Amino acid sequence: KKVVLAYSGGLDTSVILKWLQQEYGCEVVTFTADVGQGEEVAPARAKAEAAGIKEIYIEDLREEFVRDFVYPMFRANAIYEGEYLLGTSIARPLIAKRLVEIAAETGADAISHGATGKGNDQVRFELGAYGLNPEIKIIAPWREWDLLSREKLMAYAAEHGIAIEQKRDGSKSPYSMDANLLHISYEGYDLEDPWVEPGRDMWRWTVDPQDAPDQPQELALTFSRGDITAIDGKAMTPAEVLAELNRIGGAHGIGRADIVENRYVGMKSRGCYETPGGTIMLKAHRAMESLTLDREAAHLKDELMPRYAELIYNGYWFSPEREMLQAAIDQTQAVVNGVVRLKLYKGNVMVVGRKSDTDSLFDESIATFEEDAGAYDQGDATGFIRLNALRLRVAGRRKG
Ligand code: ARG
Ligand code: SIN
Repeated sequence: KKVVLAYSGGLDTSVILKWLQQEYGCEVVTFTADVGQGEEVAPARAKAEAAGIKEIYIEDLREEFVRDFVYPMFRANAIYEGEYLLGTSIARPLIAKRLVEIAAETGADAISHGATGKGNDQVRFELGAYGLNPEIKIIAPWREWDLLSREKLMAYAAEHGIAIEQKRDGSKSPYSMDANLLHISYEGYDLEDPWVEPGRDMWRWTVDPQDAPDQPQELALTFSRGDITAIDGKAMTPAEVLAELNRIGGAHGIGRADIVENRYVGMKSRGCYETPGGTIMLKAHRAMESLTLDREAAHLKDELMPRYAELIYNGYWFSPEREMLQAAIDQTQAVVNGVVRLKLYKGNVMVVGRKSDTDSLFDESIATFEEDAGAYDQGDATGFIRLNALRLRVAGRRKG
């Protein structure tokens, strides 16, 4: 018996590691991924070695994460419940995929993760894993063990010589956090009262918009088939683009959200999020589409978006319906090419220009308020309105 554990090297997953060895008596393979959480992954090796682990996987997945998960999702302009940019949701399928692949590589029959039995993450990990390997076994310690309080967890750690250390930057946060290149999230502690405003020092990636620079910053983003490929004319990889937009956006206080959301498992939960780069990408992408997409294609895409976002939130990335929607969305993006000009100012992303040399549907000679060249006959509008008004007039007559 062998199990692959999604291992951060932190307290929770270190306890899980020990617990798997003890309770299941099985060999554990650890898997630690750099998805841009901004913490070193290298120390996980020494910790795993100290726990007697022989097969240790440490991987930099940043480029794959943004290229194959974040970028496809942003082509859809996905937002859950009008606010949440799905930062945690979109990283889980990638972790699930690597867990299953590593299980195959190492001859393990099971995988394990540190998500609790009350949240969305367990669902995302497990639906993702089953979608890729129907026979995989999954061990979710939080649903099995009795270490349900922080004290019990600490006691178990102390008893088994697991180090309870602070973060490397010396700060220990009371929040449940999750970070990757797309966002950082905060849940729990004082946020559990939805009336309470979080403290100023909770936020880690963005300055308070009040303290942001008094001068706006201009930015030009180049799109190719719906994806950002350059910033201010400088070509960058997807992960580089997102890292750079996070840096710039963070300095201008962009992308904070404080929301109450509906978890898939049924409860409401309050969370705070910082998604500076993603907030810029979304705004810019919509501006690029506004110039290049046909009206009906754009509107239909907008109707499908909430379903698509919900699929990702609920953990159905590797599902036939998500793949079907993705194919439709990707199909629309062939013409989403050009440049969008933005100004960032105290928490706001303002679009100030957009152009597409190859794919713009905007025709100045048609749209102009000046006399046009004859593509549009204002007289045609009389019949257009009369026919569209017919049923309204009939209904109006009935009302009296
Ligand atoms: N509520 C958000 C979501 O469901 C964030 C979850 C954060 N996960 C975590 N393990 N801290 O996507
Ligand atoms: C967890 O419960 O493990 C984190 C929160 C969530 O998954 O929604």
